[in-house]
Amino acid sequence: MERKEKIPTYKGTILDIGSGYGLVMEALAKAYKDYHIIGLEPAKRNYRLAVNVINGLPNATVVNATVQGWETKDYIDQALLIFPDFRDIKTEGRAIAEKVYELLKPGAEFFIITHIPYAGVYADIAILDEFISILKMAGFSVKKQEVPFDKIPKEIKVSTIYQWYDSPQYRKLKENFSDELTIIRATKGLLPLATERRVF
Ligand SMILES: C[S@@+](CC[C@H](N)C(=O)[O-])C[C@H]1O[C@@H](n2cnc3c(N)ncnc32)[C@H](O)[C@@H]1O
Repeated sequence: MERKEKIPTYKGTILDIGSGYGLVMEALAKAYKDYHIIGLEPAKRNYRLAVNVINGLPNATVVNATVQGWETKDYIDQALLIFPDFRDIKTEGRAIAEKVYELLKPGAEFFIITHIPYAGVYADIAILDEFISILKMAGFSVKKQEVPFDKIPKEIKVSTIYQWYDSPQYRKLKENFSDELTIIRATKGLLPLATERRVF
């Protein structure tokens, strides 16, 4: 008798943009077994580490690509950008916002999660505000909120950045850390703004 391979069906897809070592992907894949977790990681070393971290988790996939360079025919239910390190907010930030808008289902949400002191090192608070303007220009409606440490979902708390908390590089920074995360919640309107749409 012919053995048919079981093809998993998921409730939806969560995209982790810049998944780093894959620690958040791993936590999400374990917490949301009926969702497909796709991580995008362009840095070869991080990508290889993430492949190992998610090894054996059937609902997690990591791809060695930037979000701008990634192609898919499927719509995404939720996108995450955790501790982004924009190279150039004007070009890369805009390309990311537009690509995520195109990938998301109408009504779906894009969460950008960062730490203001972290953003101050790699980006800048002004850069976060600029990213909010870019998100709005791409068609998102945007809300910014500060979330205290004890309210941060445990799946996010495992982020690579938190693993660095005790490294010498971070110890100094930590002195200035407030225990709050900044979460930018960008929602794609229910009516698609773009003229060119794929057919469901
Ligand atoms: C500071 S790390 C954060 C990693 C992870 N999100 C975490 O919180 O542990 C930022 C990651 O984004 C990746 N990255 C940079 N530009 C990207 C892009 N355009 N698309 C996807 N990932 C990107 C980097 O290679 C890096 O691994």
